[in-house]
Amino acid sequence: MTGSSARRVRAGTAGDAAACADIATGLLDFFTPAAVEKIRADATAHRPWVVTEGGRVVAFALVERRGRRAAEILSAATEASRRGRGIGTALVEHVLDDLRRAGTLLVEVKTLAPAAGYAPYDATYRFWTARGFVHVDTIDPLPGWEPGNPAAVLVAALAATVGGPHRATQRVTPKQAPPE
Ligand SMILES: CC(C)(COP(=O)(O)OP(=O)(O)OC[C@H]1O[C@@H](n2cnc3c(N)ncnc32)[C@H](O)[C@@H]1OP(=O)(O)O)[C@@H](O)C(=O)NCCC(=O)NCCS
Repeated sequence: MTGSSARRVRAGTAGDAAACADIATGLLDFFTPAAVEKIRADATAHRPWVVTEGGRVVAFALVERRGRRAAEILSAATEASRRGRGIGTALVEHVLDDLRRAGTLLVEVKTLAPAAGYAPYDATYRFWTARGFVHVDTIDPLPGWEPGNPAAVLVAALAATVGGPHRATQRVTPKQAPPE
């Protein structure tokens, strides 16, 4: 894409927090007013990644580092009228590539579990699982979430944590069994 509508993924700044909050505000089926305020605070505390079209922020992802090897995507959203056009996929691929280059091995995201039976978030769950995230646990109640909203804990591995270059100790070759 060229010209004023060109799509670009870039590292954001705290100055993008208001745009992130506005996007979440427009997604009434997904974010309560309290969740919007958390997004505003998170976007200020943690540098967001944003997608711009024609220079305007149309999607964001907020990531909290958990040490050198792990990170959590705290939230992500695409402007309501632009969902389903590949923006979220481009954003998540960009974020995961950046995290991988920085040495991150595991990335977590929490979303409403399908067990909640809430259709809007079923699409979100499919979005994450179709992009390599694996459902490893369900927590209800999750601290900070309203009871009755089971949280699906999804994890994506950007590199192996067992074996390979991250092995903590060298494999010890077992002694050969004595001949009978
Ligand atoms: C989830 C979300 C960030 C994905 O961003 P996006 O720009 O819509 O994503 P893409 O267009 O790249 O991908 C769309 C995919 O998401 C799913 N999807 C979700 N909502 C969709 C919609 N309204 N229209 C089409 N596809 C939708 C589809 O299954 C599609 O998957 P596929 O391409 O494998 O068939 C975005 O839809 C969103 O903001 N959802 C509401 C807020 C939310 O749930 N945030 C995540 C909180 S954990």
